[in-house]
Amino acid sequence: MAKVCILGGGFIGRFYADSLHGQRGRDRVSTVYARREETAVRFAKDYGVPHYFTNMEEAIAHPETEAVVIGLPNHVHEEAVMLCVKHKKPVLCTKPLGRNAEEALRMTEACEKAGVFAGYLEDLCYTPKFLKSLDSVNRGAIGRVLWAKSRETHPGPHSDWFWDIQKAGGGAILDLGCHCIEISRNFIGKDIRPVEVMCWADTQVKPIEAEDHAIGLVKYENGAIGQFEVSWTFRGGMDLRDEVMGTEGTIWVNSFLRTGFEVFTTGAGEGGYVAEKSEAATGWQFPVGDEAHELGYTNMFTDMFNALEAGKEPAETFYDGYVVNAIIDAAYKSAKTKLWEPVQLPVWRGKTGVTKPSVYQEYDQDHWFIKDEILPNGDKKVILKKKATGEIIEVATWK
Ligand SMILES: NC(=O)c1ccc[n+]([C@@H]2O[C@H](COP(=O)([O-])OP(=O)(O)OC[C@H]3O[C@@H](n4cnc5c(N)ncnc54)[C@H](O)[C@@H]3O)[C@@H](O)[C@H]2O)c1
Repeated sequence: MAKVCILGGGFIGRFYADSLHGQRGRDRVSTVYARREETAVRFAKDYGVPHYFTNMEEAIAHPETEAVVIGLPNHVHEEAVMLCVKHKKPVLCTKPLGRNAEEALRMTEACEKAGVFAGYLEDLCYTPKFLKSLDSVNRGAIGRVLWAKSRETHPGPHSDWFWDIQKAGGGAILDLGCHCIEISRNFIGKDIRPVEVMCWADTQVKPIEAEDHAIGLVKYENGAIGQFEVSWTFRGGMDLRDEVMGTEGTIWVNSFLRTGFEVFTTGAGEGGYVAEKSEAATGWQFPVGDEAHELGYTNMFTDMFNALEAGKEPAETFYDGYVVNAIIDAAYKSAKTKLWEPVQLPVWRGKTGVTKPSVYQEYDQDHWFIKDEILPNGDKKVILKKKATGEIIEVATWK
């Protein structure tokens, strides 16, 4: 059991408290920090939290605080992590770890140097569907992963600071792309180096300096490609979808909208909350059963606190958060230069010098195999390439 200090009494702080206290969970929130007293008091009352503070350091240093969960705006992550390092408290930080890779690397190295446990709260890498998919990929069910695409689009975030580029550090790429990038990294292999990024980003709708819509490609050293699609201008709710294509199979995951739970209402009754970023309270709606669980928060904290107790690393570490930030930095650069931009990783702990595997599959001594197919009339065709001449030929058999 851990006594947890939550920093930030806003949207994610509440999701985290719901997850920690849900289902007779053993871990308890025992201290909360919020900037405004009324937020701290309300949070403490709602979750039965014995101690509340409007001073961050006091909350972290409190003798009951055994682990700190950071749910603060992006520009405050580093300050909060450094205070945890100062007081030697295990720290779990929400996404994105930093506003850029420099901040993220400083946080990673400070924790490592001080021997402070540090977990990266990337919930979408813990959803039940994601964990099952990753397990299938790791067992080889779809062969070699060639393309991992992930999308998070919604009508935009719920607090002022997200829309301020200085505080948030970026727009939809940083806020949503961090999830998509880490999802693809997991499928492609976290030990495979991301090499370069090509990104389109634009501010299509909102009166802000940051981008409200972007699409990016992340090239990995083994030839695999990651793709992220993000938007703060998407209408219709929150769309979370992943697609993984391998040499032997495909996985499609829809985590939030239209997942098989559909409700129609004329608007009668009391109404209220439907699902995160839902845009409608009447007509057809797509609620989510157990949102905290389906968004990965429950599995995420289980992994984090199990790892903390066992003295091991969690599945998502600060180092992962730093690699994600480095990919995002390259995406921002590419959106400006319109070129493939290298991912700058001054610290890289994965494999190096990986090459793209051969694409050739042998048919017989003289031919490479391209594909075979059975046609609607039952004929079978095999398409081959002659090793000696390179000529492409077709061998057909029919009944
Ligand atoms: N899926 C996810 O993992 C997920 C979802 C939403 C948000 N987040 C992340 O959580 C963090 C907080 O986002 P949120 O949605 O809870 O925001 P929010 O605005 O709802 O809440 C932030 C809270 O932080 C505190 N705060 C605000 N400004 C502060 C400041 N300048 N200094 C100190 N404290 C301040 C306040 O208590 C506020 O309630 C962000 O880093 C965001 O990216 C993660």
